[in-house]
Amino acid sequence: MVALASASLPLNEVEVTRTGQSVRVMRPRRAAPADALRPTRAEVNLANLRFNYRALESHLAKSEGGSHKRPRIWGVLKADAYGHGASAVARTLERAGMSGVCVALLEEAIELRSAGIRIPILVMGGYFGPRRAGIDELLEHNLTPVVYDAAEIERIATVIKYSNREPLRVHLKVDTGMGRLGVSPAELPGVLDAFARHREVQLDGLMTHLACADAPDLETTEEQLRRFAELTSQIKRRGLSPKVIHAANSAATLRMPAAWFDAVRPGIALFGATPQNSQLPELKPVMRVRSEIVALRTIPKGEAIGYGHTWRAERESRIATVPMGYADGLDRLLSNKGHGLVHGKRAPIAGTVSMDLTMLDVTDVPNAKVGDEIVWLGPQEGSLGKDVITADEIAEQTGRISWEVLTSVSRRVPRFYREP
Ligand SMILES: Cc1ncc(COP(=O)(O)O)c(C=O)c1O
Repeated sequence: MVALASASLPLNEVEVTRTGQSVRVMRPRRAAPADALRPTRAEVNLANLRFNYRALESHLAKSEGGSHKRPRIWGVLKADAYGHGASAVARTLERAGMSGVCVALLEEAIELRSAGIRIPILVMGGYFGPRRAGIDELLEHNLTPVVYDAAEIERIATVIKYSNREPLRVHLKVDTGMGRLGVSPAELPGVLDAFARHREVQLDGLMTHLACADAPDLETTEEQLRRFAELTSQIKRRGLSPKVIHAANSAATLRMPAAWFDAVRPGIALFGATPQNSQLPELKPVMRVRSEIVALRTIPKGEAIGYGHTWRAERESRIATVPMGYADGLDRLLSNKGHGLVHGKRAPIAGTVSMDLTMLDVTDVPNAKVGDEIVWLGPQEGSLGKDVITADEIAEQTGRISWEVLTSVSRRVPRFYREP
């Protein structure tokens, strides 16, 4: 598929040629910096991203000289690189030397190829649609699918056979205890028969996914690794020798060298958040979400504000209104609980977070004025100090996980890329 902007089309449409047919589709629209009239934006610090990548590399290098060779990094950049913008993140990491990228969806993989990413792209979701178009796209874009059942292997083989193409390299996912995707031990022999029957589909990689790598104790993960070892031997006994064996998400990358094998698949750690019970203190947050005060008012003691009047002034108060709401990804559960940073100091959210706007009680920030920067996520330094709001902190306040906090920053918040 070739995507080209055509001069004769409206600005937000592109012409796409898909297997000979030309169709017009809407350009995937993430507001470009020039579109951003509102001062609300997410700054993505690519230097911090590279820093985290290097920190993971040096952590993995600690095993060198032992029985392991240093595992390669296949970063997980699904869901638009956890909200950071997949193309820019992938380009930065490819240049930093990353070996491969993992995404969930075929569409995500195509987006990265169209952005010029050349390293292997693993499509982990394993769903390529009910017709052959999805498989054609895999072949056309040189993508590596994850497979976990014999029927899919047969479907891929048939498309390759009848279109006279080169064999396709795939990774096989085995289920060792996650119970989500992956071939079960009972079904493995049937899948291995399918590989033996269809030389068009080559087993290049073998993977599993760990359910409890961030748990306080590692018993479950150890059991998963035992099962993985058994299934790996079974596969090798059939004469198959996958070159890239991988299992570790961020937590296992940080705390379990036994799960490293040939490659690791960290996601959240690249973006500077650490899973529970796993520490790599030097990681730096990559995303900073900021806005500005657009209105400021003084309200008398006893007056209530916002939907449902859930906040009432206990003293005469200064209330700042900021254009960031739950439709931008500021969790409504932060109502009367969360904070924004102003001049490097915390100001509490006052009242209910609404769709586009949120109020802060800035009574204790006497110099606050319209136009001042408010930080919702990330660090700020100012005349009153220096502080940081992390994804982990928001996750704790809202009962979510940091993965949700990052992926909820919505597409109407433009991403600005910083290379300080
Ligand atoms: C199969 C698979 N591998 C790796 C990851 C990366 O996990 P994390 O973000 O915890 O590093 C994910 C993310 O959910 C995943 O689904």
